[in-house]
This record gives sequence, structure tokens and C-alpha cells, in this order.
Amino acid sequence: MKNIDPCVLVIFGANGNLSRIKLIPALFRLEVAGRLSDSMTILGCGLESWKDERWISEVTDILKAKFPDGMDEQAFERFCTRLHYHPNPPGNSDAYAKLKQVLEETPGFAPNVVFYMAVRPSEFPAIIDRLGTLGLLNQQRGWCRVVIEKPFGYDLLSAQTLQGSLYRHLNEPQIYRIDHYLGKGTVQNVIVFRFANILLEPIWNNHYIDHVQITHSETLGIEGRADYYESAGALRDMIQSHLLQLLALVAMEPPVTLSAEHLRDEKVKVLKAIRPITQNSVHAHAFRGQYTSGTINGKPVPGYLDEPGVTPDSATETYAALKLFIDNWRWAGVPFYLRTGKRMAENSSAICIRFKKPPQDLLRHTHHHEASHPNWIMLGIQPNDSLKIEMQVKVPGLDLTTRTISLDATYRKGTEQEHDAYEGLLLDVMLGDHSLFLRIDEVEWAWRTVDPIIKVWAMERDFINGYQAGSWGPRGTYRLFDNDDQFWRHSLNPEGADLQAY
Ligand SMILES: NC(=O)c1ccc[n+]([C@@H]2O[C@H](COP(=O)([O-])OP(=O)(O)OC[C@H]3O[C@@H](n4cnc5c(N)ncnc54)[C@H](OP(=O)(O)O)[C@@H]3O)[C@@H](O)[C@H]2O)c1
Repeated sequence: MKNIDPCVLVIFGANGNLSRIKLIPALFRLEVAGRLSDSMTILGCGLESWKDERWISEVTDILKAKFPDGMDEQAFERFCTRLHYHPNPPGNSDAYAKLKQVLEETPGFAPNVVFYMAVRPSEFPAIIDRLGTLGLLNQQRGWCRVVIEKPFGYDLLSAQTLQGSLYRHLNEPQIYRIDHYLGKGTVQNVIVFRFANILLEPIWNNHYIDHVQITHSETLGIEGRADYYESAGALRDMIQSHLLQLLALVAMEPPVTLSAEHLRDEKVKVLKAIRPITQNSVHAHAFRGQYTSGTINGKPVPGYLDEPGVTPDSATETYAALKLFIDNWRWAGVPFYLRTGKRMAENSSAICIRFKKPPQDLLRHTHHHEASHPNWIMLGIQPNDSLKIEMQVKVPGLDLTTRTISLDATYRKGTEQEHDAYEGLLLDVMLGDHSLFLRIDEVEWAWRTVDPIIKVWAMERDFINGYQAGSWGPRGTYRLFDNDDQFWRHSLNPEGADLQAY
């Protein structure tokens, strides 16, 4: 276990949703696990004019709600001693100068500081500018790191503009661009699965892999966040960030080491090799949809256009699917299909890799079904992390018939618990490990991939395909597939393989 330098973690947006739902519970779990440095301090910074006592009482409520079965009392008491609050009311020009005083003069505050931007993206530049102008980012007293939440821009140009505003006061090693997907255990398991098992390497290429599917589906709608979602949409919200990161991990070459720079160098190479989608080819490579009313878990739910705050003629996509090609030696000709949607049939995130069929189908007369079944490797990320490999075996009996079995290589043992992604990521920031954070060139190349689609969809606002809430998305996405025998894989169970639904 590496030693962590003592530091002050300043959470801008301490009273907001992310802080309450993710950051505070994650920090408390790190406390329970004994992973926080003894003299580490958490300084909540929000617009409310609160004193420390009020913040401690808020945090207590958050934790009681999060852990209704009770908490480790000693850890809870220790955690409370770390908590401080700094009010940053709008229009109060002294607030930042006071923050500097608090950070530099409070007894027991370490000189190292993490500033966590748990605020809306439009606030990032102004806060960084104030901190930088006051010399709070210059690392003269100790190290200083800044965590930037997603989304990093809303297209390539805005990402570069945001970057420019950060670089005025920060250098790249100080910046931790978070994509919490990369903190999930199964996502990290992609690296272990690929690079700790030599038997996969010879088949991990276009000679043996037919195509790759990466899916993130949610049953939830936009949950009252129309202001954000209307200007984002599924492509920006999920594909530009999380799903392209998964694609990079599946497709990258083995890095020289697992150090942050080597890992990120290889991911960038993949993103650079994605064949550009020109505006003329958007329709052949991308499909969008918007949910209409339907039923989720037996309950009726409204369509997107009836959600509060959504404009009546909105063409914002709640479903997006892409076909991408990676033009390099390993992946030439292998389609990567990515899809995401809200109000879909199930909550599910998975990477499904379909292998080619054997060159000669020696058992063609023995199949139960008309066509032979290819092998699949499937990594389930949500709701349960899992690893499954589908193979053909003989059905016991006198006849030579085959069936599909699933080798379940789920790697978690009974008592082993998954940690929330934010726990590991917060720890990494305090340790100074960038491996699971995005470098600016990764962000830029991801925007380059989706920008032409964003532009075309922004122009074509007269029509968008609908799909019923509770379904697997709009009819018609099958037109993205290169071959008749390719279809969306909805279930990781063998019986689900035949679901040739749209
Ligand atoms: N919520 C999530 O689950 C989630 C997941 C992934 C990423 N994110 C990202 O995390 C960030 C925060 O999201 P959120 O959902 O927590 O938003 P939120 O609920 O709006 O919280 C932001 C908080 O920051 C406060 N704030 C605004 N300006 C401030 C300033 N100068 N100093 C201190 N506090 C300030 C806001 O106060 P007012 O409301 O009074 O303005 C609000 O309490 C966003 O970038 C979002 O994209 C969120």
C-alpha cells in the first residue's frame, strides 16, 4: 500500500448532487478502510454561508441516509474531525482571499491541496482563474492538483478553449480529468484480462474477431436534468467519453508499462486510428433516437418530449449508436458498434466480442439451429461485473448435436466487495496517479471522432426516430450492421444470443 501525502481536499460544489451522492460517501468508505492520511482535511466549499457545524450536520445526514444499517462509529468520529466548510457566496469578492488565508494559516492544514471541481462545467474557468490569480495553484508550498469533472467541453473547440483557460494557471500533470467509468473494477479488468492472459493475444485481432459491441443502456430517463440533457444528448453524454474509453481499452496495443503515460499513449493511438466519419457518411455510421412513452418495470413513463423542461420540438437524442472502424494493422475491417440509450429495456453496460465462425463448418448437420453459433467473450460492467465466454459443446446422448454453453469466469469471490469508482479515483488523485484520468489529447481525439456527427445532427432537427420507453431502442439501428448475421446482443446469457431484436 503506497503512502499518501497529507493534503487538504477542497470540494467546490460541496452542497451539490455529485458531492452528496458520490464524493462524501466515497471519502467515508476510504476512512473506514483506513486509506486516508491521518492529517488529511476535507474543506467543503459551497455558495451557502454555513459554519463548520452545519456542514458536519449535513454530512452526517448524507452518511446516515447512505448507510441506513449503521456506520463504523470510530471511523465516523474520525471523519467528522476532518470536515471544515468555506462559504463562497456569489458576489463576495473576498471569499477567495479568505480561502487562501484558511488554506495557508489554519493550524493542521497540510500544504498539499486538491481542488475538486464538483460544479457545473461553466463554472470551471472562473474558479480556476480566481485560484490562479491568488497564487493558490503555483505549488510553492506543496503540490496542488485540480480534478475536473466531465463533460470536458461540448465539442472539440470548446474543449480546447477550456483547456486554454486551465493552462493559464496549471500544467498538465496538475490536471486530473475524471471519467468515473475508468474507475470501475470491470473496466480495469479489461486491462488485466487482456494483458495477463497470453492465450488471448493470438486471437485478439481481425483474423479471429468478427466485431465488437459496446453497450450502455439505462432504464432511467433524464431524472429532472433537462437543462443539462437538452444541450448534451446521448452522444456527448456517454459515447464521447465513456464508450470511446472502453473501445480504446479493448483495442489498444500492450503498453510498455502500466504507468499513466504509457497507458494513455496507447489509448491515444487507438483514438487517432479511428477512421474519421465525414459529414457525408454520418448516416451510414450513426443512428439516433428519442424515447416515447412506454412502460418500465410495469410502470407507465412519459416520453422525452413530455419530460419537464424539455422543449416541445426537441430533437435531442436519448439513444445513439455508432459504427466505427480502427484503421490499423490489428483491427482493419473489424466494426466496433457502440450504443447507448435512456429508458431502455434494462440497465446494462457490457463489452461483447464476437469471434468469426470456423473456416469450415464440419458440424453443420448437427446443429439444433440452422446456423452455427460463433464464440463470444463478454465483459459485463453493470449491473454485475462478469466475464463470460460462450463455446459450443456436444449435447450428452447418442446423437452428435451441439449447444452453446457459457463459461462463467466472474472474478469476484463471495466476500469480495466492489468499490465505488470514486473511491479509487479520489485515492489516485491523492497518490498522484494519472493512469485512470484523461490526458488532453485523449479528450481531443474523442471529440474529433464525434464532432462531425454532432454537426450533422444539429442541422437535421426536423425528424428523429422514436422508440418506445422500455424497448431496446429504435427500429432501424440494424442498418448499421455490416452483415446479416450481426445483431445487437442484449443479454449475456446464451439464450439471449438469439434475440435478434432491433
Ligand atoms: N451528479 C452526478 O451524478 C454527476 C456524475 C458525473 C459527473 N458530474 C459532474 O459533476 C459536476 C457537478 O454536478 P452536480 O450534479 O453535482 O451539479 P449540482 O448539483 O448543480 O452541484 C453544483 C454545486 O456547485 C455550487 N456552486 C456553483 N458555483 C460555485 C462556486 N463558485 N463555488 C462553490 N460552489 C458553487 C452550486 O450551487 P447552486 O446550485 O446554488 O448554483 C451547486 O450546489 C458537473 O460538472 C457534472 O457534469 C455529476
